[in-house]
Amino acid sequence: MKLPMALTVTTLELPESALSLLQEVGTVEGPEGWESRLDRAEALIALLTVRVDADLLARAPKLRIVANAVVGYDNVDVAACRERGVVVTNTPDVLTDASADLALALLLATVRKLPQAERSLRAGEFHGWRFWDYLGGDVGGATLGIFGLGRIGQAVARRARPFGMRVQYHSRSRLPAQTEAELGVTWVDWDTLLTTSDILSLHAPSTPQTRHVLDESALRRMRRGSYLINTARGPLVDEAALARVLADGHLAGAGLDVYEREPAVEPALLDLQTVVLLPHIASATPRTREAMARLAARNVHAMLTGRPPLTPV
Ligand code: DGY
Repeated sequence: MKLPMALTVTTLELPESALSLLQEVGTVEGPEGWESRLDRAEALIALLTVRVDADLLARAPKLRIVANAVVGYDNVDVAACRERGVVVTNTPDVLTDASADLALALLLATVRKLPQAERSLRAGEFHGWRFWDYLGGDVGGATLGIFGLGRIGQAVARRARPFGMRVQYHSRSRLPAQTEAELGVTWVDWDTLLTTSDILSLHAPSTPQTRHVLDESALRRMRRGSYLINTARGPLVDEAALARVLADGHLAGAGLDVYEREPAVEPALLDLQTVVLLPHIASATPRTREAMARLAARNVHAMLTGRPPLTPV
């Protein structure tokens, strides 16, 4: 059923597959000037860079759905949306593999110091193979601690085991024993995760409870010479404290894909050779991004045709 009056405002350039789906049920406007179109929007396709709060909702009186085209939804005030009867959806599953691949790649790059070695070669410092040059840490035999064993955390655990890592985790809720056995992971309390992991990888959402869960005191509880990998959300880590803990050598290295105040990066981190910094690219493959956009569009399509959304939060 075509509802020409139903307007979807998009904050991102949509691929044809998502656009055509939305055009079956109405019109699509944006991303150019999307904010000025909110007053007529029934659906909004949002991104993690778009703050959906009471102020935005007040400017969008007809809004029925916020389809976040990413899996994390810390950019959305879900309570304010609920109060206004606005449904919120995200994009789980479709980015799990790409995100887990990137987390493992960043882990390997950080521990084996790949960017540092590459920078050195480009600077003309490679003078032939030398026995004691370019040494990194060991991944095989390391204990990997995963904080947050949701979809992406589990996919990281699956990838880590063939590398010979022993995997332990801490999560808000413990997985059923059978799932733990299938994944080959062991649940430990938070303090044990911090103090016994050689590599700690974060996969928990950003909430008031997880904000600065890695503050200076937690970072200093981590095993001396261990590594921190964050591909989840920046606010989980106190970035200034991380820079201090890296600078004095307590941690051997860190790999970050996300930051507390994106796109800003704590300046002290930029000066450190032991940190690998990526520009929030965990889900950045064309296939994954298209699947994310399409899932957001499918959620809107469902709402606008009177069906329940596929992936409500
Ligand atoms: C998400 O979907 O939340 C990611 O951060 C995007 O890669």
